[in-house]
Amino acid sequence: MNNHSHKNNNDEINLIKQQLPDWLANSRKRCADGKVAGYIPELAKANSDSLGIHIIDAAGNSITAGDCGIPFTMQSISKVFTLLLALMDNGEDLVFDKVGMEPTGDHFNSMLKLELVQPSIPFNPLINAGAIAISSLIKGENAGEKNNRILDFFKQLANNDSLAYNDAVFQSESHTADLNRSMAYFLKDKGILRGNVDDILNVYFRHCSIDVTCADLARMALVLAFDGKDPLSGIQHIPRRYVQIAKTFMVTCGMYNASGQFAIQVGLPAKSGVAGGILTLVPGKFGIGVAGPALNAKGNSIAGVHLLETLSQNLKWSLF
Ligand code: DON
Repeated sequence: MNNHSHKNNNDEINLIKQQLPDWLANSRKRCADGKVAGYIPELAKANSDSLGIHIIDAAGNSITAGDCGIPFTMQSISKVFTLLLALMDNGEDLVFDKVGMEPTGDHFNSMLKLELVQPSIPFNPLINAGAIAISSLIKGENAGEKNNRILDFFKQLANNDSLAYNDAVFQSESHTADLNRSMAYFLKDKGILRGNVDDILNVYFRHCSIDVTCADLARMALVLAFDGKDPLSGIQHIPRRYVQIAKTFMVTCGMYNASGQFAIQVGLPAKSGVAGGILTLVPGKFGIGVAGPALNAKGNSIAGVHLLETLSQNLKWSLF
């Protein structure tokens, strides 16, 4: 990095430090218009008024605001990283035999398009059907071994050895997941899933139930912002090509069927989860974790999206 870009980065960091508390307070007002996810009963316990953010740069400078220390489950954010692990385990050709590369424009748990295409390959790895197919591709002798490999991979990326599964959320989802179960059985019938459906769903529900804070998301995002290499440790965790694939899916499908709107308003690769988390990144600069459990109608954190719009518009972060 030359002196000039160093200075720009410092100016940007100073501006963020100065403005972030006000921007967050303003975005927090949006919480009142959202609703905490209730279809997984355990998630309904979250505080709908909470909003937090953690931003980290390549030198390890962190800027935080709001309720950034509260743990929440990754939910669909985990799908980006199981996709990366599946690519590392199997290579591109095998993965894209099982999932497509296109957005659906439908809700994340919709089955509508599965029957419309032959063979019945889920449109992309970030909708539920696609992520369940990806869970089946993670290497391991049994569900327990696959779960351990996923958790270890996430720990490395977050640089946090204490990441763990949230058992209450896992149980809560397992007991109420009739729609995901029906999708998985459908995919098994069509030959997309091989193996025991309950074991595959166990892997899927488990990775959705990994507890993180905004700091963990920011650190994982930083690895993506630097093409798979953690700039703080110097470790290349993921091949650059696979990070490129993951970031492209984040742009086209990462915010469910609001991905187009998010690309226009924010213009950064991002992935949301129904517990209210959003992981996003500014390529070559920042990893960002946001959490606000009150969701909009599309299932994205209502205040979190507003805060990212504010940041991107003020700092001219849009890639487009
Ligand atoms: O399968 C589910 O419904 C949750 N475990 C994850 C949902 C979520 O965050 C949105 N998915 N794209």
